[in-house]
This record gives sequence, structure tokens and C-alpha cells, in this order.
Amino acid sequence: MRIILDTANLEDIRYFHTYYPIEGVTTNPTILSREGGDVLSLLSEIRSVIGPEKELHVQVIETEYERILEEAHAIVDFLGKNTYVKIPVTEVGLRATKALSEQGYGVTVTAILTAAQALLASNAGAAYAAPYVNRLENICADGIGTVADTAEIFKASGTKTKILAASFKTAKEVLDVAVAGCHAATLSPDVLRRFLAHTTTDTSIAGFSADWKHAFGDVTLLDLLKKR
Ligand code: G3P
Repeated sequence: MRIILDTANLEDIRYFHTYYPIEGVTTNPTILSREGGDVLSLLSEIRSVIGPEKELHVQVIETEYERILEEAHAIVDFLGKNTYVKIPVTEVGLRATKALSEQGYGVTVTAILTAAQALLASNAGAAYAAPYVNRLENICADGIGTVADTAEIFKASGTKTKILAASFKTAKEVLDVAVAGCHAATLSPDVLRRFLAHTTTDTSIAGFSADWKHAFGDVTLLDLLKKR
């Protein structure tokens, strides 16, 4: 399962792009609102940090069909290839998804809460369908099951649409959707950090280091190899 970073914070994007195997960045109006300021400069800076080959997902703000198409074209003109236009799963959103997909644009249909909505997104030609996992789990609904059902439906139909699961609050939710056959997940910096962290990994590494130093002192293998 591919991992994408769900933030517009430049410091976090620089950091995680350097250290973690991420495939790109997703944003939405709320995420952009947290950073404030000049939103076009911010998006342009995000593109320049991640480079032209990584995915950048940007949501439309317009709500009327023709204006959504115009906005989508302008977003991709501005941010270049591998930019995905996020469109909420509404009737007008599906109409715009059909048109943009036919024109060759990558559309991520977002705010998906049911496998039925994901099926419609797929039939409209979306590149990605983005179910909101924690928003479902948080109301005692089955976010993981929704992704699992969607994965089954997509597998049976052979659609090219991929599942890009979003809205995670725990590392376990992320792992569960991976097991359920999800293709990609977008994680906040906090959840991605917790996906890696383990205290036993830390104590294991500390043990390796202590044992080596006890036997060989401060010299490293590199030091020894260079002196050879
Ligand atoms: O990008 C959309 C999604 O990740 C929203 O997450 O945490 O606001 O439910 P959240």
C-alpha cells in the first residue's frame, strides 16, 4: 500500500519527503486553511519540494459544474503533471469527474463514506476514491469494513480506480486498511510517525551500539574498511 502525506505544512513536507518513502502530498481546504497566507505560493512551494514526479492532490473550491471544470484545468495548469484534482462525491462532483476523466485528468473523488459512493466514483472514471476511515470509526460505523468492501468491489469489476483511504487517527486503522487490500493511504505527519515508532526497535538499536562499543570501542566498520 502506497503512503501519501496529508498536510500542507512545508516544514513537515520537507522532513517526511526526505526521510520517509512517501508518494506525494494530499491537501484539502481545511488543511490549507491551517497554514493560511498566500495559498498559491504555498501550493507552488509544495510542488517544488516534492518535485514533478510525486503526486499532489488539490481540492476544488467551486461547486458549480462549469466552474469546477475551469478550476480543475487551472489547478493542473498551475501545478503541472501528477497533480490530482480532488472533487467531493456529489451529483455535480460525479458529473465533473466523468468530464475531467474523459479529458485525461486525474480525479480523486473525496469525502466518501460508503462503498456505494466509491463504486459511483469508480464508474465515473476517478483515478482514486478516497474513503474517510476515522470519520466512520468515530461514529461507531465500519471505516475499515467500508474500505474492505470497496476493495472487493473494485477487484471484481477490474476498475482502474484505486482506493486512497484518508482520515486516520491511529496507526492500527492504517494497518487494517492495508490488510483489507487498500491501494494507498494518506496519513497526517503524526500518524505516519506513529506508524514507524516502536520502543523495542529503539532498545534493540541501543543494544547493538552498546555491544559493539564494548567489544571494539568507538571505531566503526567504515573506519576499519577505510584503513584496510
Ligand atoms: O484529506 C481528507 C482527510 O484526510 C480528512 O481527514 O482527519 O479531517 O478526518 P480528517
